[in-house]
Amino acid sequence: MKKFLLFLTLTFPLLSIELRWDWNKINTEEVSFPKNFIWGVSTSSHQVEGNCYNNWTLWEKYKKYEPSGTACDHYNRCHEDIALLKQLGVDSYRFSVEWSRIEPQQGVFNEVEIKHYRDYCIALKNAGIKVMLTMHHFTNPVWFENKGAFEKEENIQHFVNFCTKVFEELHDVVDFWITINEPAIYMFQGYVRTVFPPGKTNLPKASQVLWHLMLAHCRVYKAIKQLPAGQDAKIGIAHNILQFEAFRENNLLDKVISKNYRNIVSDCVVEFFKTGKFNFKFGSELSPTQLPYFANFEIYYPDAPECLDFFGLNYYSNVLLNVLKGSEDYREGDIRTDMPYAIYAEGFYRAIKQVSEVGKPIYITENGIPDAKDDRRATWIKRYTYAMSQAIAEGYDVRGFFYWSLMDNYEWDFGYYQKFGLFEVDFKSQERKLRQGSLAFVDIIKKYKELN
Ligand code: BGC
Repeated sequence: MKKFLLFLTLTFPLLSIELRWDWNKINTEEVSFPKNFIWGVSTSSHQVEGNCYNNWTLWEKYKKYEPSGTACDHYNRCHEDIALLKQLGVDSYRFSVEWSRIEPQQGVFNEVEIKHYRDYCIALKNAGIKVMLTMHHFTNPVWFENKGAFEKEENIQHFVNFCTKVFEELHDVVDFWITINEPAIYMFQGYVRTVFPPGKTNLPKASQVLWHLMLAHCRVYKAIKQLPAGQDAKIGIAHNILQFEAFRENNLLDKVISKNYRNIVSDCVVEFFKTGKFNFKFGSELSPTQLPYFANFEIYYPDAPECLDFFGLNYYSNVLLNVLKGSEDYREGDIRTDMPYAIYAEGFYRAIKQVSEVGKPIYITENGIPDAKDDRRATWIKRYTYAMSQAIAEGYDVRGFFYWSLMDNYEWDFGYYQKFGLFEVDFKSQERKLRQGSLAFVDIIKKYKELN
């Protein structure tokens, strides 16, 4: 009986959830979007600005990654790059401020850098472009990293101070705020996969880091809301839903392992904002045998559901796990991207439904394909916008879509090899050229602007 119950507990939540549509029977032109829907593109400071030196660049050297170098020189060219936004027809731009420029040393704020970002936000506003500003997109200033970054609860206050300063300086020129980009990916890359700093594999530490990031978000939210202009500020977080699923759909081990990963990378953040319960578990009852917990961290923060005005969803694809081989990149018949994942727009539809449980308006803060040959970009755009439109038609409250990315840029441990840009960048001449496949995005925006 005990064994039977154990079997039930293990298999019930593990029934296959992977959804597949027959794309041959779907007309991706049949989409519709609400009035006032926001269309935008995204970037992040370290990936496009160039000439960063007081942040992730040390990690690039240490790991012998391709150096980020001058990147897209967007720091110097951001004003002329507004023309790219106009060419696309978008009405919004998501980008991040580089913490290591604004606060190069603890407590020392660089007014010239603040003015740089302020002037840029004003220029965007003047061009009719709304600003979604991210405060933290993976990179820490060296001084913060050296203090142990988000491993230590006492360090959170430094981040709150930085965000408060940025808010005070820019509140009148920013429309939407993202506190932290992909906290769970920051945790996973830095404390499980070792490709981001500090490059550790330590699940208990990973659980602490993710918890501190959740807490950091909530404390920033509360600090800003107490400021005179804070009441009206729209503040969210950008969370990546990465659906780990069993490659062999009926294999219990594949199911169990993927459920464990799904829990720590995707589900526990959604659960936190939905209920206030932060439940970071890897192992034990999520495992087929009586293995110990590799991580088991549970805490309740009842204010969490109130610490969000909107939910930012970043979505790319799912990860298919096969315990015998590690991850598999695609199923038969899938269209592959240049990253180790396939085009899977059904997953986007599922992710929207999942994050809607938080009960806040949703903005898609990132979605896009790495496609150097530019022979799959249009398909990606059509399928993912179709999936989003399906969710909207069913009543899910999606209010905007930001494509990743405006232009080719520095893709972290992959360097410049991955080509996510709607605009192709020649990194020698810094010339930007609109890719043919990107016209699918331009056309959608044009069509829905005309309708509204
Ligand atoms: C990150 C970006 C990254 C993109 C494409 C997201 O997880 O926020 O910084 O470039 O994915 O891999």
